[in-house]
Amino acid sequence: MDTLNSGGFLLPLFGMTGAWANVSNPTHRELWRALALLAWCSIVTGCSALAFPLEHYQAVYTKATLETPAPDPDKLSRLSQRDVAQVTHGRYLAEIAGCAGCHTDGALVGEPNPGLQLAGSRLGIAYTDPLRGTPPGVAYPSNLTPDPKTGLGNWTDAQIAAAIRAGDSGSGPGHLAVMTWPLYQHMTDDDVDAIVAYLRTLPPTEHEVPRRVLPGTKAATSYIYFGVFRSGPELLIH
Ligand code: HEC
Repeated sequence: MDTLNSGGFLLPLFGMTGAWANVSNPTHRELWRALALLAWCSIVTGCSALAFPLEHYQAVYTKATLETPAPDPDKLSRLSQRDVAQVTHGRYLAEIAGCAGCHTDGALVGEPNPGLQLAGSRLGIAYTDPLRGTPPGVAYPSNLTPDPKTGLGNWTDAQIAAAIRAGDSGSGPGHLAVMTWPLYQHMTDDDVDAIVAYLRTLPPTEHEVPRRVLPGTKAATSYIYFGVFRSGPELLIH
């Protein structure tokens, strides 16, 4: 991931896309020609990375199943039966909405830290294209536990609900970046209240994640990028 931060290994990938860009509706012969071109480049220019453009990348496989964390038993014991039912429903919704998949250290690369579930991610997510050459904007999934200093301890229920359904960033500018709030915008009041009630029962975990980094500024930590790419019309296979 750090290699992505420094931009070190992006060039070979450009080489790859450049080679394929001219291949419309590729036949076997054209694919072989493109591969031969890459091999030729690597021999002639001595840039072996071009032949194996992904050799510095590692496939990432999930090593642990991510469970949405259980409420603090002490807090739960002080709640009425009705409130416990609401919290249980909220935990279920947080589970299926995949909140922990972003808001947990290591989860984005398949190695979630079990001690920091929902306590935020120091691995960022680029929200502008890192392949364009300038450092991208990077957002960090925040700490959702009730810790007052680094989490949601000082947020009101209404502020948390607005963040989930409308991407409202509280005091920050604009909408929350990357956060999947458009998927949650039609969540009912009961459901969003249940998620908020559940988040309130988590043990407060002090865990600071970096602030959002604006495009053009180099992020201090690693980040990933979910790019959406499409081929030009000449590449469409009819
Ligand atoms: C695809 C990743 C992703 C998923 C899934 C996701 N979030 Fe987020 N969330 C983020 C990012 C990134 C931010 C910070 C955005 C920023 O700084 O602009 C954020 C911010 C927030 C904030 C604002 C908190 C703050 O301190 O700024 C809340 C609240 C929140 N998310 C709750 C949730 C809940 C609850 C769920 C599940 C229902 C969820 N998120 C699912 C990525 C995600």
